[in-house]
Amino acid sequence: MSVLRAGTLELRGRRITLRPLTPGDWDQWREVRTAGRDWLVRWEPAPLPGSPDPADDRRAFAARCGARDRERQLGTGFGFGIFLGDRFCGEINLSGIQRGPFQNGYVGYWIEQLYAGNGYIPEAVVALFRFAFEELHLHRLQVAVIPRNIASNRVAQKLALRHEGTALRYLEINGVWEDHHRYAMTVEDWWERRTTLLDAWIL
Ligand SMILES: CC(C)(COP(=O)(O)OP(=O)(O)OC[C@H]1O[C@@H](n2cnc3c(N)ncnc32)[C@H](O)[C@@H]1OP(=O)(O)O)[C@@H](O)C(=O)NCCC(=O)NCCS
Repeated sequence: MSVLRAGTLELRGRRITLRPLTPGDWDQWREVRTAGRDWLVRWEPAPLPGSPDPADDRRAFAARCGARDRERQLGTGFGFGIFLGDRFCGEINLSGIQRGPFQNGYVGYWIEQLYAGNGYIPEAVVALFRFAFEELHLHRLQVAVIPRNIASNRVAQKLALRHEGTALRYLEINGVWEDHHRYAMTVEDWWERRTTLLDAWIL
């Protein structure tokens, strides 16, 4: 379950903690992002031309945190840093939340290369799914993955997310319109599989 610590939303996994990033996280964030540029950029949208890079510009990072705060207040998105103790090591975001008849959100994530292969992202995904289904009462969550991203497809497979098909030229990643496997879970699946997922990744 989520807890409020000093006014901050916090989700707990077995080993990791998720909480919104704040301007005070800039030093750690920039260090991880700068060292991991090659590891990350090939799987991410290219920055808008002319926009300041939050890894080089403290104010741009603070603005990014502010934008995420507003999304959270509006209920349209929930962005979290992933922490091992006090050590920042990645991010997981629930974005593009739509209510009405869809009740859907999109999940994206990354972890620092040094910490890859320890199951921290599947753990973070289950913590976020629990929050999204049980506290935000969303109906469907989707993760979209480029077919050649073996590691990320493995995350979806480990969690047995439903492969709903491959959307052609679905998202513009690093300047190219890339096909994506669309993986999803609905709240009905969540209640069916909740105990197994929490036992495997959270408790
Ligand atoms: C994809 C990613 C989020 C997976 O996170 P993770 O916490 O390492 O996930 P896991 O520990 O469950 O490992 C998943 C797979 O990564 C691969 N992997 C394991 N160790 C690895 C390492 N040191 N380096 C790279 N890949 C590794 C394996 O294929 C593993 O599957 P396996 O456990 O069946 O062997 C992470 O590799 C990452 O951040 N990559 C760069 C950004 C990215 O691809 N984001 C997702 C876009 S959809």
